[in-house]
Amino acid sequence: MAAPSEEEGAVGRRYHQRSTAMLDVPFLPFCAFLGTLGLLCVAMVGSWCQHWRGGFSLDGSSRTFNWHPVLMVTGLVVLYGAAALVYRIPYTWSGPKLPWKVLHGSLALGAFILTVLGLSAVFYFHNSQGTPNMYSLHSWIGLGTVLLFSCQWAAGFGAFLLPWAPTWLRVLYKPIHVFFGSTILLLSVASCVSGINEKLFFSLKNGTMQYKLLPAEAVFANTLGLLILIFGVLVVAALARPSWKRPDSDSPDSRQLPPALGAGRHRDCAGNAEPARLQTANPAAKNRN
Ligand code: HEM
Repeated sequence: MAAPSEEEGAVGRRYHQRSTAMLDVPFLPFCAFLGTLGLLCVAMVGSWCQHWRGGFSLDGSSRTFNWHPVLMVTGLVVLYGAAALVYRIPYTWSGPKLPWKVLHGSLALGAFILTVLGLSAVFYFHNSQGTPNMYSLHSWIGLGTVLLFSCQWAAGFGAFLLPWAPTWLRVLYKPIHVFFGSTILLLSVASCVSGINEKLFFSLKNGTMQYKLLPAEAVFANTLGLLILIFGVLVVAALARPSWKRPDSDSPDSRQLPPALGAGRHRDCAGNAEPARLQTANPAAKNRN
């Protein structure tokens, strides 16, 4: 194929610059939007269970089950998403890294606690009703996700928060941790979507309330599923966006590099090298941990 002429190259570059400028949403407003979307998902799953599914209790009835969707969406989607985005907040790029590591780990721990409570609710409900456990595709994907998340949390704690973890271990594990961070979020979204679908099939099966007649509850819960999906995809997109990554995020042991080594490492979404903003701007960078 013939190489593009100089003029074609210039036009291509101009279009590329214009399209990347159009996508150049600032992080903080995007984050505020994501926060609102996350809260909307929590409010909607709570309203669904309260308004259409009879509310909440701890007596082993279907009202005990209702804790399950609420706690899973709050924990393994919204709180987990917040934990994943901590290092994209520009404030975290300067000063010591340890407090942000602790915040990231604590939010993830909060997500884990809500997840365990959410799973306890559904197992307690099944056992009280004499329903078998772990028969559905939803339950397999769901439990697999939770097991993966448990391993991720334990390995992240061991590698990044224990001070005696060797640097070579952090180097080796960091890309794996980043990869599974996004994967687990997408699996959580898949669990939620399949769970919502399953619940609607179980609940909407009599008379005028059949799922296929699309009653108001189905419209509401389908919309909730879509919003959860959009939330998950946007969080994963934000995590993948190069210009929102911590400037030293590709440093081998997730520590701040000295200015000379860090210079020019960071690339924006167009692939252009950005100045190593923080390394030069922030003298406290030397105190990274
Ligand atoms: C990350 C999110 C979720 C995970 C990890 C998850 C996980 C699980 C697991 C492991 C079970 C099996 C419990 C047992 O066998 O006793 C289960 C059951 C169930 N879940 Fe979820 N769930 C999630 C979200 C949801 C949501 C949002 C709904 C929506 C209503 C839902 C609806 C159900 C239903 C109806 C059952 C009982 C039937 C079955 O075992 O498949 N789940 N879930």
